[in-house]
Amino acid sequence: MKTSQSSSAGALRIIPAFLILVSVSLLFMECKSAVRSGSYVNITDPADERKIDSIVSLLTLEEKVNMLCGNGLFTSPGIERLDIRDLNYTDGPFGIREELERKSWTPLGLTTDSATFFPTGSALAACWNPELAYNYGKAMGEEAKTRGKDILLGPAINITRTPLNGRTYEYLSEDPLLNSELAVAYVKGVQASGVASCVKHFAANNQEAFRGLVDVQMDERTLREIYLPAFKAAVTEGGAYAVMAAYNKFRGSYCAENDFLLNTLLKGEWGFNGMVVSDWGGTHSTVNSALYGLEVEMGSAQYFNDRLLEAVKQGQVPEAVINDKVKRILRVNFFCHTAPPPPMISQVSTPGHMKTVYDIACQTIVLLKNTKKILPLDDQKVKSIAVIGDNAVQKHAKGGFGAGVKTRYEISPLEGLKNRIGGSVKINFVQGYKPVYTGTDGTGKIPDYAPDKALISEATRAASRSDVAILFVGNNREVETENSDRKSLTLPFGQDELIKAVCAANHNTIVVVVAGAPVDLRVADSCSSAVLWSWFNGSEGGNALADVILGKVNPSGKLPFTIPARLSDSPAHALGTYPGKDLVVYKEGILVGYRWFDTKQITPIYGFGHGLSYTDYAYADCTTDKPSYGKKEIIHVSLKIRNNGSMDGSETVQLYVSELNSRVLKPEKELKAFKKVQVPAGGEVNVKLEVPVANLAWFDDKRMGWVVNPGNYKLSVGSSSKDIRDTVQIIIK
Ligand code: BGC
Repeated sequence: MKTSQSSSAGALRIIPAFLILVSVSLLFMECKSAVRSGSYVNITDPADERKIDSIVSLLTLEEKVNMLCGNGLFTSPGIERLDIRDLNYTDGPFGIREELERKSWTPLGLTTDSATFFPTGSALAACWNPELAYNYGKAMGEEAKTRGKDILLGPAINITRTPLNGRTYEYLSEDPLLNSELAVAYVKGVQASGVASCVKHFAANNQEAFRGLVDVQMDERTLREIYLPAFKAAVTEGGAYAVMAAYNKFRGSYCAENDFLLNTLLKGEWGFNGMVVSDWGGTHSTVNSALYGLEVEMGSAQYFNDRLLEAVKQGQVPEAVINDKVKRILRVNFFCHTAPPPPMISQVSTPGHMKTVYDIACQTIVLLKNTKKILPLDDQKVKSIAVIGDNAVQKHAKGGFGAGVKTRYEISPLEGLKNRIGGSVKINFVQGYKPVYTGTDGTGKIPDYAPDKALISEATRAASRSDVAILFVGNNREVETENSDRKSLTLPFGQDELIKAVCAANHNTIVVVVAGAPVDLRVADSCSSAVLWSWFNGSEGGNALADVILGKVNPSGKLPFTIPARLSDSPAHALGTYPGKDLVVYKEGILVGYRWFDTKQITPIYGFGHGLSYTDYAYADCTTDKPSYGKKEIIHVSLKIRNNGSMDGSETVQLYVSELNSRVLKPEKELKAFKKVQVPAGGEVNVKLEVPVANLAWFDDKRMGWVVNPGNYKLSVGSSSKDIRDTVQIIIK
């Protein structure tokens, strides 16, 4: 009896234990198969949220905390026992970086890790073409997927506040609307390839000088109107799965432990439910980072390790906070691991990707000046060309401190010209100038500004003996680089002396600027009748440039930033509010870029949005659908663009809005819509632009809200911010 009693009691105890075990195993199996089959794709699906909750409930505290710190320089842990893979990260933002040792920056030296070099950020922005930004993101996402990557560290979307910022070439533009539209398209493209996009660097990371130290201060209106819109759009419209916190401080706290930026804005106001990673080595605390919004410490393993486990055990960080972080990471993990990675190399530098980068490169190139109409060159008439300047042969995929691409190939400008006309035209290359550095300042190399007289003599000889000279000047990836800002806008290595000499030796000199950030163009502009801006323009950059020079492609790029005549004309420099050290105050407020130049009536060398074509566009019949609008309405603007020339082309119509007699400071005008349209030679197209009245709002920091002022507004349509072709007035009720 005793025996039978105890055995039945034992059985009663065993049955529930057995049931629990079975149900846990079923849940495990369900979770595993769900992970494999990809049923978690939609992170807003409540059913998936429940599954994610169930997984979190199965994890030990140790397992959860372990997921919050990189386990390699570009990996962070999954959960092995549940078959949840680690996350693999890659730079971004203009091509998939070569493979490095797991825990160091040393390249592995593989032969299988090359990738396509995409035109860098400011080049992409010069296309003013969200469709191309989508193609860019998608092709890069496919290469990331091929290489087994889950998270692409791009796009980089900080506003160009100062032309000196070493990463201007990585970033897009000085305008929040242009940045937003391109960022959304880029993010959607990347994520269409099953790779999560990590937008960076959030927020107010507008200089490299003292980036790990500087505390950025600006008023709320400036933050909301200028520095946040692209991040907000990338998250709320683009659906970005990840955000990288910037290195700098913002209003006293590092961005990776910034309660206001990460919790209040990003996760609160914008409803972001993906994950925040630190910039590499940009974590500075355990408890604050955990409480104030960081999910994963990357590039270091100092804070989200045993210290975090201990902080949770001590009650300094609630376990619920850890659970939330793990859920955010799982959402991203399930999104990227829904499809098995394609076989190695299958999607790298495919003919399709090469066409994508060629098409983009063609649209990035900006024709700044063509007063004597020597462009396009007629290769039937031109018998000899002197190609001058180190940038004719420089490759820009790699360099400087940060991200680079071990590209499969990169066509230099000289190679591009030889590819197209090498057989029929005599091309004589001379170096013109040599990149020479006088030392380093601890963050970057200091360029030598002295001209090389022997190279200049050789260049003038070559120029005087050729029908045409094409002079390649600009910067390189040592001069424009992460971790350091340029000290001046002056072209390095004595290039202004070279420009003067070559232009004097040959009046048919075309200056091509190869750079990703504004440079001082006063000499180039005054000496030469033709100036083209090419960029760090990707694998096909040289071919695209040759096609523009020869008129096979009609240039359609528009500047994504103002090119000031002098540095002191730029707002941050005019006001002496750059670079600070411990502190930088953005005293120019909302008057960034052209907003400053137009409002203060300072003439730049070339204005924001400027870019000519080989044809002429006439603007006509600009009208709005109504004379007045309510605050919830949309303003429909229509106009006609006529191509009066003999070459097909594309024009980017820009719509700027000015409030007349505003009671608060408003910039002289602000970009509120744009559209790139193809117009056949002799043809005409109707262009329709839409501006929601809500987008005319300014941010009132007293009331902490967006306000649309009633009153009169002027809508200006034009070919650039300095070339307005028509205006219409409307009333906002
Ligand atoms: C840069 C990031 C980059 C990371 C990883 C950091 O120094 O600021 O943009 O993604 O390094 O390479």
